[in-house]
Amino acid sequence: MRSSFIVKDVLKEISKTLHPLIPRAAREAQLLVMAFLDVDELWLMSHKNEVIKDTKELFDWVKRRANNEPLEYITNRVSFYSKEFYIDKGALIPRPETELLIEEVMKKVKDKEDNLTFVEVGVGSGIISILLALEFKNAKFIAVDISQNALDIAKINIKKFSLEDRIELRLGSLLEPIDENVDYLVSNPPYIEDGLELESNLSYEPQNALFGGKVGDEIIKELLDEVLKRKINLFTCEMGYDQKDKISKYLKGKKYKALKFYKDYSDFDRGFTLKVEN
Ligand SMILES: C[S@@+](CC[C@H](N)C(=O)[O-])C[C@H]1O[C@@H](n2cnc3c(N)ncnc32)[C@H](O)[C@@H]1O
Repeated sequence: MRSSFIVKDVLKEISKTLHPLIPRAAREAQLLVMAFLDVDELWLMSHKNEVIKDTKELFDWVKRRANNEPLEYITNRVSFYSKEFYIDKGALIPRPETELLIEEVMKKVKDKEDNLTFVEVGVGSGIISILLALEFKNAKFIAVDISQNALDIAKINIKKFSLEDRIELRLGSLLEPIDENVDYLVSNPPYIEDGLELESNLSYEPQNALFGGKVGDEIIKELLDEVLKRKINLFTCEMGYDQKDKISKYLKGKKYKALKFYKDYSDFDRGFTLKVEN
């Protein structure tokens, strides 16, 4: 097989291979080539006759994409909140709705200069703690995950944004590794019901990042118990679109100040903030 091609022929060849297995095959071809050559769209459009040598790895990527492996795992890059992060199979690919969790937290903290202690449970690739650390410049972050693979990926991203002094990573379950006083707990925990059949591309993602127990909301409830026991003032958490009633019921009769749910871009219930004290 030939190993050098010109850009426009590579794009054509990749689109042909991906169509109709993958929607928007022509666009996917562009994204694969841009990531492979580490160039932007402008370069790609103005270098259609440039020769690409050693295309073997690129065509290996195309095979993986044709098997429905997410583009982000193949290229090791993901765009989130207008920034680019490193990503690998050890961590969940950040979802656009998680941007809303970050905005929710930004709205709840009145004074951005405060010396708050944030804890994130389930840090994954690190996107939440990193974006909040960039916003709250005096806050300290402790980010926990049960998966060492996820922590390794978060570490790469934390270094990329030079936040090693502000975000500490800890291996463990829920709040077990935390003895400190916590001002604000944030989490996008696994919240899908165990065994639920999902689309095939999700089989590439770490299953302990997706499934939250027999019903799905078990981890959220454990976090709620910890928040109330430790009197953590604020807790913002992402949840499944059908978990609002169960969470409200679970908190009935318990001592807290306010519970407010927020919706995602499709107008589904997607998360909440619990305020425990004044
Ligand atoms: C839905 S992913 C969220 C990842 C990242 N924060 C994001 O929003 O893209 C959930 C994360 O929780 C971690 N996790 C699952 N069970 C956990 C537990 N009991 N304690 C701590 N982390 C846990 C998973 O390893 C995974 O990284």
